Amino acid sequence: MCGIVGVLGDHEAAPILVEALKRLEYRGYDSAGIATVNHGKLDRRRAVGKLVNLGDLLVHDPLPGKAGIGHTRWATHGEPSVSNAHPHQAGPVAVVHNGIIENFRDLRAELAEHGILPQTETDTETVALLTQHYLDQGASPVDAAFQALDRLEGAFALAFLFDGEEDLIVAARKGSPLAIGHGEGEMYVGSDAIALGPLTDRITYLEEGDRAVLTRTSLEIRDAQGELANREIRTVQIQSTQIDKAGHKHFMAKEIAEQPLVIGDALGHYLPAGQDTVQLPGKGIDFTKIERVTMVACGTAYYACLTAKYWFEQLARIPVEVDIASEFRYREPPVSPGTLAVFVSQSGETADTLAALRYCEGKADKIVSVVNVPESSIARESDLALPIHAGVEVGVASTKAFTCQLVVLVLLALKAAADKGQIDQETLADHISAVRGLPSLLNAALDQNEAIRQAAIKLSEARDVLFLGRGPMYPMALEGALKLKEISYIHAEGYASGELKHGPIALIDKNMPVIVMAPRDAVFDKTVSNMQEVMARKGQVLLISDDDGLAEAQDGVWSTIRMPHVHPTLAPILYAIPAQLLAYHTAVAKGTDVDQPRNLAKSVTVE
Ligand code: AGP
Repeated sequence: MCGIVGVLGDHEAAPILVEALKRLEYRGYDSAGIATVNHGKLDRRRAVGKLVNLGDLLVHDPLPGKAGIGHTRWATHGEPSVSNAHPHQAGPVAVVHNGIIENFRDLRAELAEHGILPQTETDTETVALLTQHYLDQGASPVDAAFQALDRLEGAFALAFLFDGEEDLIVAARKGSPLAIGHGEGEMYVGSDAIALGPLTDRITYLEEGDRAVLTRTSLEIRDAQGELANREIRTVQIQSTQIDKAGHKHFMAKEIAEQPLVIGDALGHYLPAGQDTVQLPGKGIDFTKIERVTMVACGTAYYACLTAKYWFEQLARIPVEVDIASEFRYREPPVSPGTLAVFVSQSGETADTLAALRYCEGKADKIVSVVNVPESSIARESDLALPIHAGVEVGVASTKAFTCQLVVLVLLALKAAADKGQIDQETLADHISAVRGLPSLLNAALDQNEAIRQAAIKLSEARDVLFLGRGPMYPMALEGALKLKEISYIHAEGYASGELKHGPIALIDKNMPVIVMAPRDAVFDKTVSNMQEVMARKGQVLLISDDDGLAEAQDGVWSTIRMPHVHPTLAPILYAIPAQLLAYHTAVAKGTDVDQPRNLAKSVTVE
């Protein structure tokens, strides 16, 4: 997944493009580049690695021009290199692309018959070569771009810039999001509205199959059938991403520390003051008509869904299916009436999750999204979007967004339970009171930071790590393993603690740290048995529990982390803190790039 941007402005385009790309770096940071047209001449600058490298290059080798396009890359075809960096140029045309051109090899073979050969490993270069081919046959820039677009299969958000054309950008969207920004005598294009935030709040979102021809004073959009289309110009509220680390060493540390604050804010949007009721935005959801729930997401958001399954089934007695988004639609699940389809996504742009949402259109009774970006594609294509109010999350590893997702989901499950008469008002009030108490418990958990940092130093020497949990702590074991591996690069796996004896226990020896996440709850004794099976084989156990749990089971463990007592329903939300801090401090001890780990991006906008 990548970020693209374009500007037809009255000022030098390079600094505007670089600033917009900074706001898109969450989509990938393997390489970056810009192209401009200056006095009719098309030229480009590209640099491998993070955007700062492109900025440095432009200081030494400026690129003038007031019309330009830019790109920040997460490599799909071809390694991160200058040669594979966008914009890709073929003679008089340059393109930037987010997505995957699935038939680029066939197109390459066709072009080779005309003696047109690729210079890079990328699919995107083929778009530039194809457009050049049509230009060579006499097509105008717009017609050449459109003819090339007619040949493409796969997903793309594309912007084209042409030599000799200082007031023209052609843009197109199919499967990847693209927004047009309206300025005063200027026009912009970007992968999302966030990129264009400092330039304008007047945004037109292109729809599937749309093609746009931009000049500084005009915008012509044609729909997938080639007909002129009028798309709404919305005024959008863009979350400022111009944030700092507030004195923390990393954004991830800041965002972990922010959780009590942002969760308190999120609660304010769903729990009316002085009332023991859950209030949803818009028309809300009538759960009396809901017979089952389908939940779909990726990565950490998927683990939030796995956790919510326990809440919906135990509190509301509603059966819940949870799917990894990239598997969901290929399973071709029957989605019957009475199904609530829930899509959880911090960015709201994850291509797999968006594709799963579209699979449910016309099938599910209601499509609900739980997102951190209300203007995102997933939010806009839902019947109801439930914002998590986490604020901008810059660290690629999701932390505050995860716990805010969990808070919104537990409130949703409580509302479902109350609507369906599965819990009485007293039980609802009891749970809501516990939820209101979360911020102070999260602060108590954060106070264990130093003990966790000490444990992480030993963890940083491990080659493999296991996380164990039972019941609603099992998804937390999965999340703890993901956090550790994605920022420290240490191999880690999460297991249901009862599952260990069915094979994985063969991995246990004195070199294997095993993180056991176990509040003193109804399944604690079973988990302690599993823990003792590990210690009997010299496994090094780190026990995360409360006072009661530690008093009963801490003998013989390598180390402990003490959690405050918490309502059993809410334990997964609280135990996310030690999971996050363990990963963070381990990564810091290893010296990896905590906020932008290798090979990753904050939002995966390709399938
Ligand atoms: C979480 O730490 C990861 N960065 C990743 O698994 C992420 O949760 C996943 O890509 C889903 O992203 P989304 O919530 O923006 O859809």
